[in-house]
Amino acid sequence: MQPDRVGQSISDGAASFVVVANRLPIDATIEDDGLVTWSGSPGGLVSALAPVLTGREAVWIGWSGIATDERPVTPPSMMGSYHLVDVPLTTQMVEEYYEGFSNSTLWPLFHDRIVAPEYHRDTWNAYVEVNLLFAERTAAVAAQGATVWVHDYQLLLMPSMLRSLRPDLRIGFYLHIPFPPAELFLQLPWRQRIIEGMLGADLVGFQTPFGAGNFCEVASLLLDIDNTFDRDAGGWVDLDGGRRVRVDAFPISIDVVSYAALAATPEVQQRAREIRSELGDPKFLLLGVDRMDYTKGIDVRLRAFVELLEDQMLDPGTVVLMQIATPSREQVEEYQRLREDIELLVGRAAGALGEIGEMPLRYMYSGLPREELVAFYVAADVMLVTPFRDGMNLVAKEYVACQVDDNGSLVLSEFAGAALEFPQAWLVNPFSQESVKEAIMTAIGTTSADRRRRMSAMRTHLTRHDVARWAKGFLDALAAV
Ligand code: ADP
Ligand code: F6P
Repeated sequence: MQPDRVGQSISDGAASFVVVANRLPIDATIEDDGLVTWSGSPGGLVSALAPVLTGREAVWIGWSGIATDERPVTPPSMMGSYHLVDVPLTTQMVEEYYEGFSNSTLWPLFHDRIVAPEYHRDTWNAYVEVNLLFAERTAAVAAQGATVWVHDYQLLLMPSMLRSLRPDLRIGFYLHIPFPPAELFLQLPWRQRIIEGMLGADLVGFQTPFGAGNFCEVASLLLDIDNTFDRDAGGWVDLDGGRRVRVDAFPISIDVVSYAALAATPEVQQRAREIRSELGDPKFLLLGVDRMDYTKGIDVRLRAFVELLEDQMLDPGTVVLMQIATPSREQVEEYQRLREDIELLVGRAAGALGEIGEMPLRYMYSGLPREELVAFYVAADVMLVTPFRDGMNLVAKEYVACQVDDNGSLVLSEFAGAALEFPQAWLVNPFSQESVKEAIMTAIGTTSADRRRRMSAMRTHLTRHDVARWAKGFLDALAAV
């Protein structure tokens, strides 16, 4: 779906359904002549919300991705049938709120301190300021009694800010990343403010019952209040003054039908064959696809693969590992360090492995169009998904959706939310190199019947639990509160 520049801007007080996320569902491309063009970056969230966004005065509120003082831009005001509302951020806000508090404090803390979180008062102040900007913008456009759905860790304070401004609204909050156990979360200097911020919502949703349970435990500890949380049934947090907040798990998913349909097209099937041929027609093609992020365990799988070649468990003439990493958060120091480490590892491996003409480890640092990505999923015999911690991991679900002939294997970290739904994957502990090595060998060596049985079970589960079911589940629960 393409954004629409000439569409009507929404009037204040007119929106009956509002989605709020750090980013708008559009991408800007800056041409060589400096011209900015916009394209839709719908992804799963937009397609899931399309039915509820369509047919009423609906709005998506978010940041355009470009700092206003870097380049003044006016994002399109509509996409399809719903409106877009930009929250303009300055370079300093981007550095402190987005790169700083969101991605150098909350992101590493909520992902089990894989790198050390930074605690700075300046970035916290910017986080408060930007959350208030989002809340004010939302309060202005929402109609009386509207439903507002706030997304993710960049906006944890927003629900309570919005409730203060507009007590009439029905507010849902969904966290896309893990919520850490109490002993980690309690390190955060602003822990109470964050919990109070989230509890401004009527419904707080998490990827897994573990995240929901951790949140309830922390809320009870910090605010000295009761909760009735149960891993199977979700629960309630009872606030002073009688307000109750519903807490539950809603595992996110993907648009399964559209991935499977794309994977089955003759063009994608043909491209998948070409990819294998371009990679030297290996007997086994292994694949990794991730944002370049230290949570994803890219280094773990590369090291495991290199060791298997060195141990002569794998033959460099017949096996290829293709790692595709999409650039992410490149201004944040830890992300720059990670990229250097990964590229050093790839470079060393290229020098040390294989005969002349053999290149068992391939690496690409770029984002791919959906058709090309799906062709890689179709081409791959084994998908390696080895995060140290991941809220869900949609790549794992996309790979499963694309195995329309059930002929692929998934090696999956126990610490990805997806592991709760895919017990038939080859589950690994990414902190154990041996565990990853063993899983790769087992996935490669298993019988065709076993491989198909496992993949078929995962596809059946996924088909029944697609992104539309996720969105409906959350919104029905919000309507019922
Ligand atoms: P996260 O939310 O941490 O980025 P997920 O695995 O849940 O991790 O989602 C990543 C999304 O980004 C998936 O939809 C995946 O298809 C997409 N993606 C990852 N790498 C690439 C790439 N190189 N090119 C295009 N899309 C990518
Ligand atoms: O799922 C986590 C998340 O931060 C999302 O909020 C976001 O859409 C995605 O990863 C990409 O991150 P960023 O917006 O920082 O590029």
